Amino acid sequence: MHRTHTCGELRLADIGKEVILSGWVQKSRDLGKMTFIDVRDRYGITQLALDTGDDESLRVQARELGREFVIKASGVVIERSNKNAKIPTGDIEISVKKLEILNEAKLPPFLIEDETDGGEDLRMRYRYLDLRRNPIRNGLILRHRISQIVRNYLSNAGFLEVETPVLIKSTPEGARDFVVPSRMNPGEFYALPQSPQTFKQLLMVSGFDRYFQLVKCFRDEDLRADRQPEFTQIDCEMAFVEQEDILNVFEGLVKDLFKEVKGIDFPEFPRMDYATAMRLYGSDKPDIRFGMQFKELNDVLKGAGFPVFDQAELVVGIKAEGCASYTRKQLDELTDFVKRPQIGATGLVYLRVNEDGTLKSSVDKFYGEEQLKNWAGAFDAQPGDLVLVMAGSAEKTRKQLNELRLEIGSRLGLRDKKTFAPLWVVDFPLLEWDEHSGRYHAMHHPFTSPKPEDIALLDTKPGEVRANAYDLVINGTEVGGGSIRIHDRELQASMFRLLGFNAEEAQKQFGFLMEAFTYGAPPHGGIAFGLDRLVSIIAGLDSIRDIIAFPKNNSGRDVMIDAPSAISAEQLKELNLSVSF
Ligand code: AMO
Repeated sequence: MHRTHTCGELRLADIGKEVILSGWVQKSRDLGKMTFIDVRDRYGITQLALDTGDDESLRVQARELGREFVIKASGVVIERSNKNAKIPTGDIEISVKKLEILNEAKLPPFLIEDETDGGEDLRMRYRYLDLRRNPIRNGLILRHRISQIVRNYLSNAGFLEVETPVLIKSTPEGARDFVVPSRMNPGEFYALPQSPQTFKQLLMVSGFDRYFQLVKCFRDEDLRADRQPEFTQIDCEMAFVEQEDILNVFEGLVKDLFKEVKGIDFPEFPRMDYATAMRLYGSDKPDIRFGMQFKELNDVLKGAGFPVFDQAELVVGIKAEGCASYTRKQLDELTDFVKRPQIGATGLVYLRVNEDGTLKSSVDKFYGEEQLKNWAGAFDAQPGDLVLVMAGSAEKTRKQLNELRLEIGSRLGLRDKKTFAPLWVVDFPLLEWDEHSGRYHAMHHPFTSPKPEDIALLDTKPGEVRANAYDLVINGTEVGGGSIRIHDRELQASMFRLLGFNAEEAQKQFGFLMEAFTYGAPPHGGIAFGLDRLVSIIAGLDSIRDIIAFPKNNSGRDVMIDAPSAISAEQLKELNLSVSF
């Protein structure tokens, strides 16, 4: 027998029991006649006390124990004289009678501790060792719990988990596809699904009514902290529903999750339409853990002869409370921040409300005292406050100010990871204009239904048509998104036309869906949550990598197994592929 108990299990109540524990050596301390060994497994750490006395061979054996050796110890549970309140097993230790080495281990390349000395690359290369560390293991345990809660909630609500294929034809979700060559069909390729979108809609045509799947999705796009090339969706679809039904069911799911995992009871989630989110926060995923809403200042600041403002489409600012004391250097830092190429602003203007109530701006030569007062008044700025203003084309300036708002929010400690602020963003535009291709693109995907009251605008002002589309945002991250779908064949056909597909292309790419719609498609809609994002937010982590067992790095590589990699000439030949670079 390898173990009677785990390394996280024994307590004072177990004193006197004969036990066997197996696990990895966390550390070992040789104190002369006694050696203390911390043995670790997935469940915790237990101290082993080995009375080596004058037994020289036992002492040698104990001294040879290296970090991460796999051992098995038999002995009796005794009370510890010197208790360790930091670990649940800290009141007891095992008085070891027999110690066996089950396997030796090379010295790990980094410390297997909560705080490790291993850099990201090293930890990824030896991910199986990284996974022995508590923070990473706890992340995966949380992920498991969340998946279980999701499955239970949805099953109890009548949803069926149906698996959809992984080798498919491309689904247009906006990113590039990963493709797989087909050996049996030379010159032809499968695509890996960016999401099971079309399949879940077909399941609605089949009458499945309520579908869900915890499913891997694949997108070949630029990677960031909250993006991986393969990630997991909680993918859902419902028939005979309207937007309100979907929001209610899935708000219930997210509330349930937070209640069970964090003990948090949320009131009803606030909702904000897209246009308001852009106007007040410059983002379709506002972080509403803090206020600092935008104030538009065209009426207040234009026309005073300051060319940057006078020529701008939009002059807009935020109030950073208590920041009037920012030094020249801190203000320069903020200006540099917004001028970084990733943000691309040309500059930043400030107005300080000094403690004595006097006003000082960086553009004083254009504004008299009265005008400065109006400016401060627009923000209801109080002594000690700092107002920051940007100007330019409306869309760009809003986005830039959004970055600044988030930066100031972080600097002021307003983005606490233990605070959660969910928000539904609704009424997204149906289409967005793409400068590059000179045509409209679907903002969500081509199957999203326009709002019935806006359908008339499709021919005249397509850019103004709103969609029955919604996102769930938590703390400024988009954790889920979905829509009511088009279920009418004609409307779907005109949508494809609007998106620049000619009838033949639409038929070739989506003929199966259009045909399905001729066989009785019910009204339907759905949503998909990013499981990785949801878990990492709940865990308070910055990157989704930490809650993925074997993630890819920023270049999309798995550095442990060394993928992607070249394949043999023979494989290439079999696949009818030739490669030249
Ligand atoms: P969407 O493209 O918005 O919708 O994706 C749904 C959710 O998936 C997560 N997500 C990602 N997570 C990690 N890495 C990525 N690369 C990544 N891309 C997306 C986000 C996002 O909100 N078929 C539609 C859903 C629907 O309409 O029902 C879809 O895939 O959290």
